[in-house]
Amino acid sequence: MKILVTGSSGLIGSAMVPLLAGQGHQVVRMVRRPAARAEEAVVWDPGVGKLELSGLERSDAVVHLAGENIAAGRWNSSRKEQMRNSRVNGTQLLSESLAQLSEPPRVLICASAIGFYGSRGDEILTEASSPGTGFLAEVCQEWEAAADPARQKGIRVVTLRIGMVLSSKGGAVPAMLPAFNAGAGGKLGSGRQFVSWITIDDLTRAIAHALTTESLSGPVNAVSTNPVRNVEMTKSLGKVLRRPTFCSVPALALRLLLGEMADALLLSSQRVEPRRLLDTGFAFQFADFEAALRHVLGRI
Ligand SMILES: NC(=O)c1ccc[n+]([C@@H]2O[C@H](COP(=O)([O-])OP(=O)(O)OC[C@H]3O[C@@H](n4cnc5c(N)ncnc54)[C@H](OP(=O)(O)O)[C@@H]3O)[C@@H](O)[C@H]2O)c1
Repeated sequence: MKILVTGSSGLIGSAMVPLLAGQGHQVVRMVRRPAARAEEAVVWDPGVGKLELSGLERSDAVVHLAGENIAAGRWNSSRKEQMRNSRVNGTQLLSESLAQLSEPPRVLICASAIGFYGSRGDEILTEASSPGTGFLAEVCQEWEAAADPARQKGIRVVTLRIGMVLSSKGGAVPAMLPAFNAGAGGKLGSGRQFVSWITIDDLTRAIAHALTTESLSGPVNAVSTNPVRNVEMTKSLGKVLRRPTFCSVPALALRLLLGEMADALLLSSQRVEPRRLLDTGFAFQFADFEAALRHVLGRI
């Protein structure tokens, strides 16, 4: 297939591109600034609504991962606007453009996030669960709806509600390492909140599965089969790194330090099941959190 990929320089995109290329697909990156090897890239600028339709012609599939990083700094109103606009407006631009093609691609895989569900305690969440409340839940709902023009055109649209991605190259794991390595790792808040996670390897395999599984459309939870409580995650990380985890950070301290991000990203509880991936025969390589951590950190 000829597959267009947005957000290809990010954590997920930079693992996705080599996987797809290795499977023999022709991968064309959609980039926001002119690329060195122009024949391998299409330039778009979602910030100003610019996308040349000719760049999208004769593609079979699109993997859309672009979005302003949500963990890069304390949230204020302008950061929140960037996070929302880069996702909602970017998805709208892409799906409206795809809908204008005389021969549109068959499938569009869009990133979304388990933030869709809000914070739900111990409730088991499947793709059929209702949306939650709060900034991230609202952004995710708008983000998923922004692909409507592509759906109406008859393109198969999959919105992947991605959980916490485990990778050594970016995201949550490297962010936790300094405190844990210094012996200052510990549970966050009560530690009872559920964390739904997936290794970068299983996530890229799940995206490849969604590309070729014709029966899959609509929301798909991209999480492993075993969400863990924050306190279990803390113990496993301490065990893998061979560091103590006696410290704990009270919710109030996190809120003072990080503001709104503390509740949205660290204290919220999401116990999510990957029901649609399992129903369509996807086999996870990693179901056990400690084994997954050992794998991504290269610690046997
Ligand atoms: N990593 C996770 O744990 C996780 C969990 C749930 C959901 N997700 C979602 O999955 C998607 C990919 O995640 P990721 O971890 O790979 O993210 P990432 O590392 O932050 O990369 C996202 C990419 O999006 C593009 N981008 C950045 N700012 C942008 C803006 N203002 N407008 C348009 N594009 C912009 C960039 O690619 P270019 O410079 O190449 O355009 C960037 O490399 C994101 O939408 C994210 O919200 C990730």
